[in-house]
Amino acid sequence: MNASVIVELVYLLSATLFVVGLKRLQSPATARGGNGLAALAMLLAIVATIAENQILSWTGILIGMAVGGLVGGVGARFVKMTDMPQMVGLFNGFGGGASALVAIAEYLSYTGGPGAGTAGVTMMLGTLIGAVTFSGSFIAFLKLQELMSGNPITFPGQNIANGLLFAAVLATAVMALGVGGTDPRTMFYALIGLSLVLGISLVIPIGGADMPVVISLLNSYSGLAASAAGFVIGNMVLIISGALVGASGLILTMLMCKGMNRSLANVAFGAFGGTASVDRASIGQRPHKRADADAVAAELGYVNSVVVVPGYGLAVAQAQHELRKVGDLLEARGVSVRYAIHPVAGRMPGHMNVLLAEADISYDKLFDLDEINDDFASTDAVLVVGANDVVNPAAREPGSAIAGMPILDVDKARRVIVMKRSLSPGFAGIDNDLFYMDHTLMFFGDAKQSMADLAREVRELG
Ligand code: TAP
Repeated sequence: MNASVIVELVYLLSATLFVVGLKRLQSPATARGGNGLAALAMLLAIVATIAENQILSWTGILIGMAVGGLVGGVGARFVKMTDMPQMVGLFNGFGGGASALVAIAEYLSYTGGPGAGTAGVTMMLGTLIGAVTFSGSFIAFLKLQELMSGNPITFPGQNIANGLLFAAVLATAVMALGVGGTDPRTMFYALIGLSLVLGISLVIPIGGADMPVVISLLNSYSGLAASAAGFVIGNMVLIISGALVGASGLILTMLMCKGMNRSLANVAFGAFGGTASVDRASIGQRPHKRADADAVAAELGYVNSVVVVPGYGLAVAQAQHELRKVGDLLEARGVSVRYAIHPVAGRMPGHMNVLLAEADISYDKLFDLDEINDDFASTDAVLVVGANDVVNPAAREPGSAIAGMPILDVDKARRVIVMKRSLSPGFAGIDNDLFYMDHTLMFFGDAKQSMADLAREVRELG
């Protein structure tokens, strides 16, 4: 069997592993293994490509793997869960940038334009999408890392300006093919520059609050750019893996939009998610009832059913292990404990599932919004841990900032306990009527400390 047949077989194996790996991401129970399979597939594909083209010796490949493994390992160890969206943003940017560089290198190997055939068109697509993804992801990273303001940066006529910029990008792409009378190479450089500006101008009007959706969309773009790069250099596995990333990123984006009851157009052009216009002075000024760990333990320890609603604050406080202890203690007392997971609780898809899995909370106790929402009316007590918008009844009021967003109907339970540090708003920046309801008790404090106190008090119940 000659070397190129072996390489093709390795590519086939990689593509199969990508599909199986993606399929296994469907359930938290198999997701970790699925991720491992996909990573193995990528490693096989890269090693096969490098070895076939004799770009590096085997020693060079091993050194590359060691350096890459070290950077990945350190990143995985030290980047906080709550900082994951910006890390994914950076990865997308590098992916888009790499695909653009592949397309650019291929273009520069032609003297004059490559012509308007498939090769030329895919080079233009790879350069355009890759450059937009690169600069857009970089802005998304800066916003999420708070290195620049998370507020939408807008100006009158912005959408028209972006439309004109996009038209200019398309025109330079056509001319860079060598179709018009102008110098194709000059037009190609203009295409790179304008695409980078387009990436920036598409992302700056989007508020930091919507950035996770944008990250997911850019993830989809990075897949498309990789697929285009695959066409450019005739690499089948790059085409397949890029298409898988492109499609899954788009599906995820649509799921996130659905979870917030927003359209993609509203996220992209609605300039939502800044905090500048919120009247914070009026928030948290109404009477509310407070409870301490002792009282909360009594509320939870003598009932039949408790539903826990985790949110972003659980992730910030890293209180998942203490939460698990409280759950175990309550179950030992005969209380049924379930966990209600809102599709956009936290700051990224699956955020809560990952946290609870880390604390070994069994998957069969986790219920999606659709599965559990009807049960709140017959639930004795709900413990809301660092969640806010996903339980805000304002979503039922037309005209509110989160109108129409599907919420967990926790206010229908007999007793509601909200664990958070203050009456401050959540991500959407609006007040929450739940905190002031008659049957709600506010249990103030950092979730980790509060949960540890609660565990101690539940243990001491008779
Ligand atoms: P939020 O509405 O953001 O509320 C989180 C709450 O946690 C805050 O009100 C905060 O109140 C509390 N908190 C923060 N640190 C805490 C700590 N150390 N201990 C205790 N509490 C703490 O979170 P949510 O209910 O999970 O909703 C998620 C929001 O993110 C939604 O608006 C959603 O649309 C948005 N979003 C999510 C996604 C995905 S995919 N998950 C993507 C885009 C947007 P205090 O400051 O008073 O403690």
